[in-house]
Amino acid sequence: MKIGFSKTALPLAGAVIAPVFEDADPTAAHAVLDAATSGALAKAIKAADFSGKKGRVLDLVGLQGMESARIVIIGAGKRADFSLLDAEALGGDAIGPILKTRAKSAVFALDGFSTDAVPAGDAAARIALGALLKSYRFDKYRTRLEQDQKPALEKLTINTPTANAKTKFAELEKIAEGVAFTRDLVSEPPNVLYPESFAARCKELEALGVKVTVLGEKEMQKLGMHMLLGVGQGSARESKLVAMEWMGGKKGAAPVAFVGKGVCFDTGGISLKPGPGMDEMKWDMGGAGAVAGAIKAIAGRKAKANVVGVIGLVENMPDGAAQRPGDIVRSMSGQTVEILNTDAEGRLVLGDAVWWTQEKYKPKTMVDLATLTGAILIALASEYAGLFTQDDKLADQLQQAARTSGDPLWRMPLARAHFDMIKSDVADMKNIGPREGGSSTAAAFIGKFVKDGQSWAHLDIAGTAWNKKDKPTCPKGGAGFGVRLLDEFVRANCE
Ligand code: BES
Ligand code: MN
Ligand code: ZN
Repeated sequence: MKIGFSKTALPLAGAVIAPVFEDADPTAAHAVLDAATSGALAKAIKAADFSGKKGRVLDLVGLQGMESARIVIIGAGKRADFSLLDAEALGGDAIGPILKTRAKSAVFALDGFSTDAVPAGDAAARIALGALLKSYRFDKYRTRLEQDQKPALEKLTINTPTANAKTKFAELEKIAEGVAFTRDLVSEPPNVLYPESFAARCKELEALGVKVTVLGEKEMQKLGMHMLLGVGQGSARESKLVAMEWMGGKKGAAPVAFVGKGVCFDTGGISLKPGPGMDEMKWDMGGAGAVAGAIKAIAGRKAKANVVGVIGLVENMPDGAAQRPGDIVRSMSGQTVEILNTDAEGRLVLGDAVWWTQEKYKPKTMVDLATLTGAILIALASEYAGLFTQDDKLADQLQQAARTSGDPLWRMPLARAHFDMIKSDVADMKNIGPREGGSSTAAAFIGKFVKDGQSWAHLDIAGTAWNKKDKPTCPKGGAGFGVRLLDEFVRANCE
């Protein structure tokens, strides 16, 4: 779908979308449509008892004077409450029904649509972004789609007299490309996306000026990353560690580092997961996917910041060579770990990945993202990702970025007690705690590999990486959660 901006008169055919506030006069664009239909639009709105409530859609066809058009009126809610994120949701909610029709082109009629908080250019750009995010599809393996199941919409035009909408959108489009990159990675089946092929996709980012380094098992052996390697030792696929560097900031300035869990498939290993739903563990690389997508967005928009993304890529399989419960492994940090459950593998991957990241980059700040625990879903459902940190300033920065980006976070506890709960009788720590507080002990485990004084936060995205149902700016499937959050974190704190 191509997106363009235009200032010329509204077309009176095809799909025309016009937003209305619940409590404000209709926009200039709306008045044009009403005049073109000799008042039939106003009558239809009245007859349908349409109030302009947020997200409500009124889909009208065959109105007098615009017989060949489809007019979609969408509620924008109360004018004073309208936010940038509301504009995105509006764009997605309005385009949703049109994507299900055979319309080849659609127009957002936005003349006069603005508020004090959301000026016309931002409204237009954000509406376009929402529509773009909503139109994402992952159809590459559907070879027998009926003609009427294929997306028909080829062109979306944003009709607004505002000059800066296009420039504002150009930057947002780069972020959308990062989100789509992550959604693709998360959606790919595990026979296609495994450590080596994931690393190859990261290599594509070199075209944007990102330096991409891939370590294989031999290099990781040499570095002593036995904790990460232990997770992949039952897999036929070679484990990889990928580092992506975007150095768009001051030369020599310490970077911010994002570290992602990339378990390309998590069977649980010898502590095998139950069969039903195990296919979902193809997206156990959602943290790594978010880091790669964020680097794509940040490099794509040429952010003036030094940012590195490090992802640990493994496949957790049961096998004659697989790691056993009871094994003790030595991490790159030198600390030893008693493996009591091979299904608590993400923390093992991350522990070595965060240690390596600190040794290599001495980052100013480090944030890791991981689909780490089922327990975070019990606590927060799919509404928030869990935020764990002992650094209050970093927590504030991340929560602010969460509010601005629309990738929500909820702060969870990480205390001395959680570190005590993973003490082992035979090694420096064990890889699981008791059932209670499972997300916090998982965070504490990673914290054992964070150096004193290092600013660090952990985000548990097990509940947010995958959407079970459609959302305003995301069809069901891979969510791309974290891309916009990290991009916004960089924009607000590192540029
Ligand atoms: N990848 C899972 C966590 C997960 C669960 C992600 C559901 C997405 C949806 C992780 O590796 C895992 O298996 N965690 C275990 C830890 C337990 C063995 C301590 C869990 O949460 O049950
Ligand atoms: Mn697991
Ligand atoms: Zn896992």
